[in-house]
Amino acid sequence: PRAIWLSRHGESMFNLSGQIGGDSDLSPRGRMYAEQLPELVRQSVGDAPLTVWTSTLKRTQQTASKLPYPKLAWKALDELDSGVCDGMTYEEIEEQYPEDFKARDDNKYEYRYPGGESYRDLVIRLEPIIMQLERQENILIVTHQAVLRCIYAYFMNVSQDQSPWMEVPLHTLIKLTPRAYGTEVTRIKANI
Ligand code: F6P
Repeated sequence: PRAIWLSRHGESMFNLSGQIGGDSDLSPRGRMYAEQLPELVRQSVGDAPLTVWTSTLKRTQQTASKLPYPKLAWKALDELDSGVCDGMTYEEIEEQYPEDFKARDDNKYEYRYPGGESYRDLVIRLEPIIMQLERQENILIVTHQAVLRCIYAYFMNVSQDQSPWMEVPLHTLIKLTPRAYGTEVTRIKANI
């Protein structure tokens, strides 16, 4: 690929309440990010052709809705499945599943939510996406925190088991440019 742009969805209602997973709508701030994203992308991509990939969840599609490019929604880009903890806050998980909470803290890469996924599972789920991505021209991926951490670690040549600790903040467009010596990173923060 020439370059890959990455963005989390704008702030969601669940981000505001601290709940994980789910399929909530964007918050008012998240909608502001969706409004600003076309200009942010245009400044970085210019007039080059671009294809936008999203997950199948509402918050990524709402974030991409104003972008004037062809779009493709992938189930494989949906957020890490938090199983029985879906929709809970970290405080609720600590209270209701204290052993799980500790196990995740001890090994965040290997820990699998009951009925859900681990980061390792996610890395495997993302393999076909990464293979597709390697064959494309310019792609912008609008997806979720855990998913972006894995994609980011892959292109930054960081060991996959470090994925859970990659810094992928909200309302920031990340540009990755593969170079002979490694991947160049540019981060553009929205003004919200
Ligand atoms: O809170 C937003 C979110 O995308 C959740 O849906 C997801 O479970 C979580 O972040 C992943 O981050 P972490 O692995 O640090 O819990």
